[in-house]
Amino acid sequence: MIQSVRSGAPLIGAVQCPGDKSISHRYAMLAALAQGESELLNFAGSLDCRSTLRCLRALGVDLRTRDNSVFITGNGLDGLKAPSGDLDAGNSGTTMRLLSGILAGQRFETTIAGDASLSRRPMSRIIEPLRLMGAHIDSLEGGMPPLRIRGGNLRAIRYSLPVASAQVKSCVLLAGLFADGPTAVEERVATRDHTEIAVVQFGGKLRRREKWIEIEPRPDLRARRLVIPGDLSGAAFFIVAAVLAPGSEVLLPGVGLNRQRRTLVDYLQSAGVRVEVENQTEHAGEARGDLRAHHDPAALGASLPPVAGELAAALIDEIPVLAVLGSQAGGLVIRDARELRIKESDRIAVVAANLRAMGAEVEEFPDGMNIVGRQRLHGATIESHGDHRIAMSFAVAALAASGETRIDQAECVDVSFPGFFDALARLRSNLGTRSI
Ligand code: S3P
Repeated sequence: MIQSVRSGAPLIGAVQCPGDKSISHRYAMLAALAQGESELLNFAGSLDCRSTLRCLRALGVDLRTRDNSVFITGNGLDGLKAPSGDLDAGNSGTTMRLLSGILAGQRFETTIAGDASLSRRPMSRIIEPLRLMGAHIDSLEGGMPPLRIRGGNLRAIRYSLPVASAQVKSCVLLAGLFADGPTAVEERVATRDHTEIAVVQFGGKLRRREKWIEIEPRPDLRARRLVIPGDLSGAAFFIVAAVLAPGSEVLLPGVGLNRQRRTLVDYLQSAGVRVEVENQTEHAGEARGDLRAHHDPAALGASLPPVAGELAAALIDEIPVLAVLGSQAGGLVIRDARELRIKESDRIAVVAANLRAMGAEVEEFPDGMNIVGRQRLHGATIESHGDHRIAMSFAVAALAASGETRIDQAECVDVSFPGFFDALARLRSNLGTRSI
């Protein structure tokens, strides 16, 4: 599907972001390993989280959905059953990497596969620690999916993460639930800690000592009723859109503000962008609050602070839309973001190519880019490469461009934000879901 977007109307009103994708995956997996029925409210309707639910069903988990709620009845740590065919993780790297940790703890053999994009993404980063724990894993050459996993009898390890990746950290911690002693992971660069928080919520035991996280094996996990906050990485597109489009004011209620993930808000505030946090609360160890973003010509005057080092890891999913913002502000330098090259697409190459197609000047580095500021963008045909965050970032860029922008494979937004284009259209016709 080609989606056409033009600049013009301001964005006014409220958008309810889907439930946080990262938290939804983790709650579903832990609920499947807990004893009893969990109720997960505001569960992400994204295709990625549906992939997790599909895999859990195939593993014999009793699971039903009603509106935005998911009810999952687990039978404890040993309650999963051998699936009758291959598991399909779709486009979802989180499904494949986190679930592999759990599959490594099972006594049966499973094959987990994904779509064309996921089949190009490296899995050696999880194969290596899982093999150290004693799992048998076959992959295609270079550690590519599908993965055939024969697990059981895992040994506890102490593992220092070679890449800053919450997915790898979470994979090892989840495998640690099935190990013969406490498993520890060291992360030198902090990444999102939803797994650590969720394990404790479901009754698991976890200790943090400086950069080490140690998980106790074989806990009695208990079912929970949990409300998932809105997805800040989805909210990011509307925040930047509001900043760019003259006359805009957007409210994003109930968005997750976990201390790692809220780096986006802190970063924008440090850049002088008017993003306000209201009504902050906490539920199940996860902070949440309402965000309000405004059109902000003053903030567009200066260059954005460089995104490098630990900041690059913390902002990894928001970099494409920040690149768009940088082209309209006084520029942006991004370094230490090599990981972006192995996301759903090569996000460095694809962002640079699409910004150039719209008339911007961008220098590409192996680990980032230099985006020249105050660029006049013009409409263009955007190749999304089927990557949801690229499609949404360039829908935002289109709001600052002259003429028509056409985004190809625009249906890919459903991977993380079903209804994204409808929400954008509603705000632009001043029909936001709630008045502000
Ligand atoms: C995620 C972690 C990040 C992020 C992805 C979701 C998670 O990936 O890019 O969208 O839910 O743990 P890495 O951990 O590989 O950086």
